[in-house]
Amino acid sequence: MNVLVIIGSPRKKNTLSMCRLIEEKVNAAETVKFEYVFLGEMNLELCRGCMLCISKGEEHCPIKDDLQSIIEKMHKADATIFSSPVYAHHITAIMKNLIDRSCYHFHRPSFFDKTALVVTTTAGSGLEDTSEYLKRTARGYGFNFIGSLDVMMVIHERSQKYRHQISKKIDDLSKKLLQAMKDNKSPVPSVYNLILFGIMKHIAPYIERDNTYWQENELFDKDYYVDVPIPFINKLIANLVLKRIKRKQAKYFK
Ligand SMILES: Cc1cc2nc3c(=O)[nH]c(=O)nc-3n(C[C@H](O)[C@H](O)[C@H](O)COP(=O)(O)O)c2cc1C
Repeated sequence: MNVLVIIGSPRKKNTLSMCRLIEEKVNAAETVKFEYVFLGEMNLELCRGCMLCISKGEEHCPIKDDLQSIIEKMHKADATIFSSPVYAHHITAIMKNLIDRSCYHFHRPSFFDKTALVVTTTAGSGLEDTSEYLKRTARGYGFNFIGSLDVMMVIHERSQKYRHQISKKIDDLSKKLLQAMKDNKSPVPSVYNLILFGIMKHIAPYIERDNTYWQENELFDKDYYVDVPIPFINKLIANLVLKRIKRKQAKYFK
């Protein structure tokens, strides 16, 4: 088994050290290969906003740099750890750029047989929003998201009680990571997944590449991308939200 760790910090310090702790814990139980991608060292240009990856397909991206090699690593790994320190209450620019450059996966998710974990660190604030964004990205790309390790470094350095709590969280996540990689199950769609699916179904006919993906995978008549049981309550809430969105949009076409 192997894990890809995407380090969204330009330096190798707090966020990396937390990922290393997960690596140590996992390897104390079983041998798993961890590969690190340091975004700060990659040749990753800024997205130019041409939309070609979404409309025509990712192979039409005019930028030829390290993006596709990172995506290939994500496809080859059993699990990916998305990590970022908090910068001004959000993920770092280099992590956001990776997401912008690969965001066609929101339209055409392809990581349903892969596990994802999120690691964020901060001095003291912005942890929740940052972690939530990475979680939504992983879920949106189709990953089986199993949890996050979110650490306030100022407290971690000063409080033994907090360090103990973080250490327990690392134990728990490491066990979950190993189990999820072995089980290799497609994730149960969350309300968020179902809303995204509904929105993509609505816009797919107007986007050439998405339309092909939806037709090839015969998705237009389905409730979700993969054949998994959908909790009734998730479906109900998602449908209510989607109806509200449609009602709001419809008033502009009257
Ligand atoms: C540009 C910049 C912005 C930051 N913004 C925040 C912030 O909004 N809130 C906060 O508590 N810490 C903030 N920090 C502190 C980092 O999140 C924190 O030190 C983190 O653990 C650094 O991780 P690293 O060592 O992996 O780079 C910021 C640091 C930098 C360099």
